[in-house]
Amino acid sequence: MKYGHFDDQQREYVISQPDTPLPWMNYLGCESYFGLISNTAGGYSFYRDAKLRRLSRYRYNNAPFDVGGRYLYLRDNESEKFWSPSWQPTRTKLDKYECRHGMGYTIIGSTANKIEAQTTYFVPLGETLEIWKVKITNHRKTPAKLSLFSSLEFCLWDAQDDNTNFQRNFSTGQVEIVDGVIYHKTEYRERRNHFAYFACSEKLAGYDTQRDTFLGAYRSWDNPAAVARGKSFNSVACGWAPHGSHHVKVNLKPGQTKEIIFVLGYHENAVDKKFSPPNSQTINKTTVKPVIAKYLDGKNVAAAFQKLKENWDNLLGTYQVTSPDIHANRMVNIWNAYQCMATFNMSRSASFYESGIGRGLGFRDSNQDLLGFVHMVPSRARERILDLSATQLKSGGAFHQYQPLTKRGNHELGSNFNDDPHWLILGVGAYIKETGDWKILDEPVQFENEAGSEQPLYEHLRRSFNYTLERIGPHGLPLIGRADWNDCLNLNCFSDTPGQSFQTTTNKEGKVAESVFIAGLFVLASKELAAIAVKRGLPDEAKYYLAEAAKMEKVIYQHGWDGEWFIRAYNDFGQPIGSKVCKEGKIFIESQGMCIMAGVGLDDGKAKLTLESVNKRLATKHGIVLNNPAFTKYYIEMGEISSYPPGYKENAGIFCHNNPWIIIAETMVGNGNRAFDYYTRINPSARENIGDLHRCEPYVYAQMIAGKDAPTHGEAKNSWLTGTAAWNYFTITQWILGIRTGFDGLVVDPVIPAKWKGFTVTRKFRGNTYLIEVKNPNGQQRGVKKLVVDGKEITGNILPACAPQSEPIRVVAVLEG
Ligand code: GLC
Ligand code: GLC
Repeated sequence: MKYGHFDDQQREYVISQPDTPLPWMNYLGCESYFGLISNTAGGYSFYRDAKLRRLSRYRYNNAPFDVGGRYLYLRDNESEKFWSPSWQPTRTKLDKYECRHGMGYTIIGSTANKIEAQTTYFVPLGETLEIWKVKITNHRKTPAKLSLFSSLEFCLWDAQDDNTNFQRNFSTGQVEIVDGVIYHKTEYRERRNHFAYFACSEKLAGYDTQRDTFLGAYRSWDNPAAVARGKSFNSVACGWAPHGSHHVKVNLKPGQTKEIIFVLGYHENAVDKKFSPPNSQTINKTTVKPVIAKYLDGKNVAAAFQKLKENWDNLLGTYQVTSPDIHANRMVNIWNAYQCMATFNMSRSASFYESGIGRGLGFRDSNQDLLGFVHMVPSRARERILDLSATQLKSGGAFHQYQPLTKRGNHELGSNFNDDPHWLILGVGAYIKETGDWKILDEPVQFENEAGSEQPLYEHLRRSFNYTLERIGPHGLPLIGRADWNDCLNLNCFSDTPGQSFQTTTNKEGKVAESVFIAGLFVLASKELAAIAVKRGLPDEAKYYLAEAAKMEKVIYQHGWDGEWFIRAYNDFGQPIGSKVCKEGKIFIESQGMCIMAGVGLDDGKAKLTLESVNKRLATKHGIVLNNPAFTKYYIEMGEISSYPPGYKENAGIFCHNNPWIIIAETMVGNGNRAFDYYTRINPSARENIGDLHRCEPYVYAQMIAGKDAPTHGEAKNSWLTGTAAWNYFTITQWILGIRTGFDGLVVDPVIPAKWKGFTVTRKFRGNTYLIEVKNPNGQQRGVKKLVVDGKEITGNILPACAPQSEPIRVVAVLEG
């Protein structure tokens, strides 16, 4: 069943019924102020860091799933009926409902009792605030006397503390209410110099700032006392739960429409100018007032919304495709790119499945996220690379995560995930290929954020490479450490105590368990590093990297090849994992994808043989599972992977993140039909019709789809924040459509379904716009032999980067057998 439809013209997904199987969400903001918003206005906001600077409160794993958010209540003051125009939290039946999730905004519209309300939520570019613009229309033949109530629960900033430290927090809450603006200033009197404000464009009939007064004892969000009686209590929070609610009276003639604007924002004052008058405890509002005034003005709001739209036109305009497949088109042109912005911004920190307090920005995750993001805002990718590498350890290892607010490595989690350092090489490579900015390699960057430890970024890459060579196991393969890409393959953990973290508890010395996956990644990263070294005028160093890569390849053939596929790893007993000799987990997806992407097995048929094994043993109609057979019991020597019931997550789930590795591998062996088929199996748009099974949003990827061993095979989980976004974007744009960034220019190497007659791509690249037409008159899957560029034929399939031209560069590529 479908719960909505795509409006590709508007770049929106239109949800037409509020009770979607799970909340279907969107993100507001893409710079420093962010919000999560569901199709029923649930969610919360934060400034930069979902853990440390949370503006509004949200209770995870709630029942119903998604309660708490940016709520409005409309009340008919004559009939005394009230309802939520976003359906939740009153869940009153609406005569019409529509939620439009767009690029950085969400519009929720509904009609009940012949009153239409449409709210547009967005964050203006360059600001640390969000707008709720409400348009109310009276469709009755008679005048309507209405009350509008806003409702937002403030979080006391540190979301973790807010969830746990009640003995203190029930006494610290403070607000100010001045000129109809509700200021939330908990802890402002002491060490904070930031506060939140919640303003309304209308004259208030009243307000509430104490949640429990607004709701009333033993009442909930679906029936707040203030709304039910039609009058605020003018409560002033002192401790307990600061809340923001405005009460506005709206009287509308038949057919009349009124626009009301709410502004929720974050503001900082200079430390020495916190109070006004200086010796008081009153917030100095000199710098915030003009901001509030600006956005309570409808004209400015309209202009800011327009600017947001234009910004997205611009971002998405970098790569646009017209292919025969509508699902590929809309993912490439709109949603997949958009999701890449979200994963770049959030890493894995804040979604409806990531609480915003658990995880900061992951080292490997963020580097991979760059693959799908770098073409949109290269300057931000650059900044991210420098931030990430500054947390790198002197050993070349990496803090597994860092907090975005402090940009410091997370000591609780520490290091020792032995794949981490190599992703930096791939991230930097992707950045340079996009931009040609070789200067980034000379940027001085600290190690472990330590002043004085600066070395050029290039030195960081060297250390990433060395890190593996210094950690080689008994077979000559890289030691796995705590885990490699698969966080749940914890071969040194041996955990037998409930509640221990699989990821941080390490009982074994770690000198035996090895990863074939890291071996493949090492080969791939070394080749990339060698190419970079050549460009830096270091040919000997490049040779050395290639020699070490070749050595590792040999080891892979010797100890990492199982006869029909690549082994996954060796455990602490030196036994193979992911081998035909295993009872469970005979074959894993990761080493197949990574080794072939690194070029292993391409020359001798092993890659093709491997991909047949993947097809036979791992592929399902809903995607490719991570391993097979699933683990049916807990194996202490395997760790978390075997803690999941069969078919879920890393235990034989379809972990969408690594499906693209197989898809890329298929393109590398020239199998366009199969590559695209796999691509489509997990493409959320192509799964829209099975909404009741899939359950997650049809416009973004989810981390996982339940595998064939699960009772709910085909059910998606953990949408939005997943490496799947970047990898699928990278795969479809660069490997299937095959318009690929290289150090010297754009490579044109499509590997497509034979039945495609062709496609066109517009690609902005290093100051030029390329209009590329690919023709496939003879039903080929691959094989561009020559290109016609602005009417002239060139040999090979690379469009060399060149100085910006005044006109777009027209390219025609013909696939030949
Ligand atoms: C999660 C993690 C990622 C890891 C993957 C596989 O998506 O964010 O770092 O590679 O799981 O375990
Ligand atoms: C769990 C998840 C894995 C994730 C890890 C991060 O183990 O299964 O996907 O990477 O947590 O902490």
